[in-house]
Amino acid sequence: MTHEAGWAHAPGALRGPSWLQAPRDANDLVPMLWSSTAHKTESGDLVVGGVPLADLVADHNTPAYVLDEADFRARARAFGDAFAGWDVYYAGKAFLCTAVARWISEEGLCLDVCSAGELTVALRAGVDPARIGYHGNNKTVAELRRAVAEGVGRIIVDSFQEVERVAMVAADTGMAARVMVRVTAGVEAHTHEFIATAHEDQKFGFSITSGAAFEAVRLLQEAPGVELLGLHSHIGSQIFDSSGFEVAARRVLALHARVSDELGVTLPEMDLGGGFGIAYTTQDDPADPAQLATEMGKIVEHECRALGIDQPRLSIEPGRAIVGPAMCTVYTVGTVKAVELDAGAVRTYVSVDGGMSDNIRTALYDADYSCTLASRRSEAAPVLTRVVGKHCEAGDIVVRDEFLPGDVAPGDLLAVPGTGAYCRSMASNYNHALRPPVIAVRDGVASVVVRRETEADLLATDVG
Ligand code: LLP
Repeated sequence: MTHEAGWAHAPGALRGPSWLQAPRDANDLVPMLWSSTAHKTESGDLVVGGVPLADLVADHNTPAYVLDEADFRARARAFGDAFAGWDVYYAGKAFLCTAVARWISEEGLCLDVCSAGELTVALRAGVDPARIGYHGNNKTVAELRRAVAEGVGRIIVDSFQEVERVAMVAADTGMAARVMVRVTAGVEAHTHEFIATAHEDQKFGFSITSGAAFEAVRLLQEAPGVELLGLHSHIGSQIFDSSGFEVAARRVLALHARVSDELGVTLPEMDLGGGFGIAYTTQDDPADPAQLATEMGKIVEHECRALGIDQPRLSIEPGRAIVGPAMCTVYTVGTVKAVELDAGAVRTYVSVDGGMSDNIRTALYDADYSCTLASRRSEAAPVLTRVVGKHCEAGDIVVRDEFLPGDVAPGDLLAVPGTGAYCRSMASNYNHALRPPVIAVRDGVASVVVRRETEADLLATDVG
């Protein structure tokens, strides 16, 4: 079974999934997966935001999320510029901290929050409450009261109970509640596919088909103190195909027109949600904001013309497409194992000092990621590798398949691109792991924007 060039070259060696090509040089970055300032030096050191990750690690240890500030701001700006005349709400659920909320405001974007905690961060960052949208399918009366009292620009109402609650809060406080109605358009879109029937079996929104959405609009329209801004639709995530937006926009605009016809009310706004895809691996081919703006603009224009109505003021809510590619995670390799599989194949398992506590997406969604050796150049032949974490769970996989140099060893740094969205925000303390810091890098300077948790943080909530 032993091959003269090593076990990885044996006939049964794994080739990995069909989309994964063995690289000519495993040291090279695939630029589309990385933030714009990321590059490697001659000696193989990965540099992001002008900061060599080895230096960052010397100061801050691993694992760490590294946030490329210039890249983040450029992506935010690109959405703002491409969707000029629309409002762009950054979806904070993808990743939010005070610094990021501030950058979003500085770049002229609005902010979408979906919890009291996210609202607290936004307000702490000094985000204008009028530029905040507040989501959630189960907001409490106290949360609604706070949102109204703070002057939140739009509360996205999601149930008939919430219709009553928001009306009550407006009456109690004597302050206007500005709201939108979250509708389900019967469209669910993920990646390259969308399904346009029977996808109303979910907890969010009011069904257009059943008439619930129209009824919610009617009730809110009549409620004193409630200012109804318009309809809101969000169809899914990691979407590459605009046909899902097309079907949803058609259905939502038809409802908008019906409201105008039957209630005599022209709703001033409409939100088409987020969900724009990014490249995690070479399988993915996302559209840029300019392309998205052109496609979505055409769809809305065409539908409004067909319905004979004026365009409402439009907005979108991208999260992943702004922060996803702007961040990478750096880990230290701890152990390396060659595990024999059936038929003589061998898989290399590289264990790093994080895992499903800092990136649950691989285990939870079967998400694919990529990675690179970040601390040196290697001349070893690329070997199909699985990067795993240090948690007590076999499904604790960070990168299911990647070609890494065959000599990756304990002490090496590995970096995983595209971890900005839903990694830190979904991080956990599983196995009492300490959640990693988020370190912003820009022009050669590294600044901690979220510090690493400590054991004191863990013990602080454990009252003994
Ligand atoms: N607007 C609404 C109403 C949403 O529910 C979401 C995401 C967004 C905007 C932003 O979507 P984005 O542009 O980031 O795709 N944890 C999952 C994603 C859940 C998305 C939830 N809603 C993941 O890790 O893929």
